Amino acid sequence: MTEEMKFCRQSRVYRSGRVFPNDFNNHNTLFGGRLLSNMDQVASIAAAKHSRRECVTASVDAVEFLHPIRPEEYVTFEAFVVWTGTSSMVVFLKVYTENLRNGEQKIASIAYFTFIALDENGRPYKIPGIVPETEEERYLYETAKQRNNYVAEKKQLNKELVSFLKKKL
Ligand SMILES: CC(C)(COP(=O)(O)OP(=O)(O)OC[C@H]1O[C@@H](n2cnc3c(N)ncnc32)[C@H](O)[C@@H]1OP(=O)(O)O)[C@@H](O)C(=O)NCCC(=O)NCCS
Repeated sequence: MTEEMKFCRQSRVYRSGRVFPNDFNNHNTLFGGRLLSNMDQVASIAAAKHSRRECVTASVDAVEFLHPIRPEEYVTFEAFVVWTGTSSMVVFLKVYTENLRNGEQKIASIAYFTFIALDENGRPYKIPGIVPETEEERYLYETAKQRNNYVAEKKQLNKELVSFLKKKL
């Protein structure tokens, strides 16, 4: 492995916490916006650990809210870099819960966050490549590579959408 490569485990971050009444929506389950904000925070730590640079979130893809999160559960966020481009990093984010009364565990949410590492002038900065080791990391690496094929297409479509919207301003 060259100096320019890092293992997925080197960026891995975990954060666990309880959910409090202020975090809930009208259905007494965790508010999706609050969950996303926490996911972005944890994912940004993984991106910074991989690149050791300032990073910005470029896009958030394939967010799935799979199960509502209830007051009797605590939440764990797990994030790590699964794929890298030149300055971009795809961070996979997994949120799981455990019911504190009966120990039942669930995957509550998953998402892919793309971060861009920046240099001192705020321009994209070349980052180390990524080396997956475990079965899960290899699976995520391969599928993230396929997902990345859509990035250029999505960017072009969004560019067209933004020009269209600007005409309406
Ligand atoms: C993200 C940002 C730096 C990209 O700038 P840019 O001038 O379009 O950069 P480039 O076209 O040179 O692309 C740089 C990299 O970003 C990637 N990228 C840019 N937009 C992207 C998007 N929407 N999704 C995924 N990757 C993206 C490019 O593919 C490229 O990756 P690579 O270096 O691995 O090949 C810029 O759009 C930005 O600052 N956006 C605002 C970010 C922000 O405020 N986030 C919220 C708070 S952190």
